[in-house]
Amino acid sequence: MGIKGEITFPGDKSISHRSLMFAALSGGESRISNLSTGADVQSTRKCLEACGIRIHDGGGDVIVMGGIFSDPEQPLDCGNSGTTTRLLLGLLAGQGINATFVGDDSLSSRPMNRILDPLSQMGLVSESNDGKLPITIRKSELTGIQYESPVASAQVKSAVLLAGLGASGNTSVTEPILSRDHTEKILKGLAANLSTNGLTTTVSPLTSPLLSFDLSVPGDPSTAAFFAAAAAIVPNSEIILNRVLRNPTRISFYGALQKMGAGMDCLKTWEEAGETIGKLKIFNQPLHAITITKNDVPGLVDELPIIAILATQANGITEVRGAEELRVKECDRIYAVCKNLKKMGADIEELDDGFIIKGPTSLKGAAIETFHDHRIAMTFTIAGFVSDGETVLDHPECASISYPEFYDELGRLQL
Ligand code: S3P
Repeated sequence: MGIKGEITFPGDKSISHRSLMFAALSGGESRISNLSTGADVQSTRKCLEACGIRIHDGGGDVIVMGGIFSDPEQPLDCGNSGTTTRLLLGLLAGQGINATFVGDDSLSSRPMNRILDPLSQMGLVSESNDGKLPITIRKSELTGIQYESPVASAQVKSAVLLAGLGASGNTSVTEPILSRDHTEKILKGLAANLSTNGLTTTVSPLTSPLLSFDLSVPGDPSTAAFFAAAAAIVPNSEIILNRVLRNPTRISFYGALQKMGAGMDCLKTWEEAGETIGKLKIFNQPLHAITITKNDVPGLVDELPIIAILATQANGITEVRGAEELRVKECDRIYAVCKNLKKMGADIEELDDGFIIKGPTSLKGAAIETFHDHRIAMTFTIAGFVSDGETVLDHPECASISYPEFYDELGRLQL
């Protein structure tokens, strides 16, 4: 079996969420094409609609009429989506909205004080279930703050900056390590008064709505990572990833893959709407181990589960450290990766903040617990390609949180 062919991906999930939100804050009609098809981005769309923003489909695009936000009549259902919850908490707090946020079991167990703490310093009045959903925010006058975030999180950074758009005075956020910078890039492009100095970003309150825009969202590099990894480890594979986002804060996985020895050619790069995009060829070659430390983590945080699979096929000892954030993703991804890989016969040691994997090992098929986490489902589907015997996932359908077409596209590329 080999993975062969070309693939183009739906839009990046992070940029898709933001493009809907920023279009809602604009003063006119925006047209977004290649929006992520995942359920998470649908959650953002539905929440914005519930706050009075008009959004409709037209000619394969999504059209958003920017406007005034209103209080939703029902609780905002954020589904499984941390980005929806955290960014909208900041955005709606800045717009003076009264709202209650709810989500599924996974989302309801994730920490939200990382957002509520800075927002309450800005003056937001809210109630939560001990720092978790359900959360109710009350219309409050916000004042800009200078916030030093204890975590390198684009969700925290974005939530505070979005709240700052509706606060009085400037708001700045300093993060310990640079996280994805889509919020900053898009806001700057839409004429917000925003500046970046090293790890500090400062925004001024909006004095007029953002500019409306037309955008074709670049392909999601975190989704593409599963296909790149499959091509790297399945013998006789070669795939072409078309129009994938190459933003420097999002390409660390591809750097790691290349360091491990995978075949990789960047066939073309170009700029679109302030983002770098590329066409990549990835092919199978022997892999060796890699070390990933705290500073590397924000650039490949969503790709660490699939890196674990690569490590089982690589020669040597791979160490991932400083990745404690993985424990508070859609599931505890350190536990999920270690538990499932042990079942498959990998040599893996669980650490508080990562794992150590000794490779190469021949994996054996197993019954996989996805914990309803889309990235765990996709990770272990790829692991199944290099395992003897059958691998069965308990909830394969959860892949649709970010990529409903995952299994169909994989099927199309397998020879
Ligand atoms: C995201 C930021 C990251 C990432 C998530 C999407 C975003 O989360 O894991 O999938 O769009 O801002 P953190 O900010 O919690 O690291």
